Amino acid sequence: MKIELSKNKVLFNNGSTIQEIHPFWLRERVEGEEFLDKRTQQRLFDPSSMNTEIIIKEVNIREGFLEINFNDGVNSKLKIDKIATEFSKKDTAIKSIKKIKWDSTLSNIKNYTFSENFFESKEMYDLLVSFYEYGFVIIKNVPNENNFIVNFANSIGSVRRTNFGEHFNVRSKPNPNDLAYTTLSLSPHTDNPYRNPVPCVQLLHCIENEVKGGFSTLVDGYTVTENLKKEDQDAYNILSEVKVKFKFIDKDVILEDWSELIQLDENKEFKQVRFSPRLDYVPILEKNKLDLYYKSRKKLSDLYNSKKNRIEFRFEPKDLIMMDNYRVLHGRTKYDPNEGKRFLQGCYIDFDSTEGKLRHLKRKFKL
Ligand SMILES: [Fe+2]
Repeated sequence: MKIELSKNKVLFNNGSTIQEIHPFWLRERVEGEEFLDKRTQQRLFDPSSMNTEIIIKEVNIREGFLEINFNDGVNSKLKIDKIATEFSKKDTAIKSIKKIKWDSTLSNIKNYTFSENFFESKEMYDLLVSFYEYGFVIIKNVPNENNFIVNFANSIGSVRRTNFGEHFNVRSKPNPNDLAYTTLSLSPHTDNPYRNPVPCVQLLHCIENEVKGGFSTLVDGYTVTENLKKEDQDAYNILSEVKVKFKFIDKDVILEDWSELIQLDENKEFKQVRFSPRLDYVPILEKNKLDLYYKSRKKLSDLYNSKKNRIEFRFEPKDLIMMDNYRVLHGRTKYDPNEGKRFLQGCYIDFDSTEGKLRHLKRKFKL
């Protein structure tokens, strides 16, 4: 990739094609104290209100900078590297982290250990990269007094409050408004598929665990749905085309949202899974189509519930797990409350928290 000049035009050469860069695109990017706030890098001018008929009067390349005089009297130096990065359209911090597929054979996953200044450390950066690779990460020895989970969430970004509160307590209780608050086993699911938007990341923190059962289970929705795509294209297609309604009803609120069980992005690639079969309602469709839908959902459910696809582990006090709620399904085995206490705390954060922190640490450690 190269920036070249021809008369008073700036050209971008990507090796196979050469295109002219619009003068206004360059004018919008002028730098210097007069034009950008030093601290925030926000513009001190409003390009949307400017005359767009901008012409370059003179341009030179010197020591990695484009030096441009525009016809509105503005002269500026633009860093060529920065322009080239914008042309590559790559989000180098997040999208360049490749997802790693896993199933029950996953072993040697690195656990992180909480320490002082954890949130500003290189360790935290590594943790976030690992989170984007696997869709979850486990941190040991996280203080478990005074709802520390909320501190933890707010030290990465901002806690995402819901109608369950800033954080929620997971232990069996009388008259539960969700099956999470019973001692029943919970099959793999994603949380809160009925919210708009769905909370992105769930944090779960073990405060006490004295029971023998109640193992935590995780399944990689990315691996499972990519495998389904290879093995049964019809099932994959219908599950990524039909939007179903997810619904949650409580005395003060009715939450509803529509989505495919496998949601794809604009390039038809994996974006998000939602799975919570006690809460989903498929619309009425032709009988044949519904027939395929139900068979496909059953197939997906069997894959999510298969031992081959899940990892299972015991949650020890002070363990905290961060899960990508758009990718990883979680559940637990049943337990006997007579054996002792089992008490977890949970809360949510959104991707702006994890992404913002990761970009910040990348900048801080010049990675
Ligand atoms: Fe859950």
